[in-house]
Amino acid sequence: MKSRGQESFVSLPGFAARLYNNLTQTRAIERQHQEIARDLVSRIEHGRLLDIGTGPGKLLFEVHQLNSSIELFGLDISEAMVQLARKNLTGINVNIQCGDVRHTNYVDDFFDIVTCTGSFYLWDNPEKCLEEVFRIMKKDRSAYLYETYQDFNDSQVREALKTNLAGESLVRRLVTPIFLMRQLRMTYRTSEIVDIIKRTSFAGSYTIGQISLGGFPAWLRIQLTKCA
Ligand SMILES: C[S@@+](CC[C@H](N)C(=O)[O-])C[C@H]1O[C@@H](n2cnc3c(N)ncnc32)[C@H](O)[C@@H]1O
Repeated sequence: MKSRGQESFVSLPGFAARLYNNLTQTRAIERQHQEIARDLVSRIEHGRLLDIGTGPGKLLFEVHQLNSSIELFGLDISEAMVQLARKNLTGINVNIQCGDVRHTNYVDDFFDIVTCTGSFYLWDNPEKCLEEVFRIMKKDRSAYLYETYQDFNDSQVREALKTNLAGESLVRRLVTPIFLMRQLRMTYRTSEIVDIIKRTSFAGSYTIGQISLGGFPAWLRIQLTKCA
């Protein structure tokens, strides 16, 4: 079976991880992570939070800024990203592991909250991955996946991109839209996400809503609750 893209991250060279880190250092993406972090800390005061596909660890950094008593965990399939996250989070007490969400080594019912941003669309066998998320979450708790989606409103997104990149360097204004539109084309349609969830243990307990993050109107917030 063809990989959805996670395979390219497994062997990602260090320079490519640093390039990703650099390209995503825009004010708009920083705002996206800050808005997601605010959303998450409004849902738990303490306990264990796992960020799957944490990449350079920017979401974990923002969560820590808002509430330093939340215990932070990050997981990523790319060793280069893991190295980068550890560097970006120097001085913060955080547990970052390299691994595939499809089979982790966390014990059952371990996390109070699980999240991921822009990673779900890359997972091979997403149903199996969601079953693993179900296993490692505590009962009656939720996972919040923030994902861009393919059936976005094209003109709204292009307009938002122009505004968001207005103050950025010429390189970012040229490269970011290419990188972003390519990534959006790889994501799922909303109906495909619903079909995947319906094939998992979260089938009876999920909500999906369209949201704007960092002024970018192409995001879904997917809430998956582990019902007892
Ligand atoms: C587009 S990046 C997003 C990074 C970060 N969440 C952010 O918002 O900047 C996707 C990340 O998901 C990771 N990833 C892809 N498939 C994965 C899997 N099966 N298990 C764990 N991490 C995975 C990749 O290595 C990559 O770092």
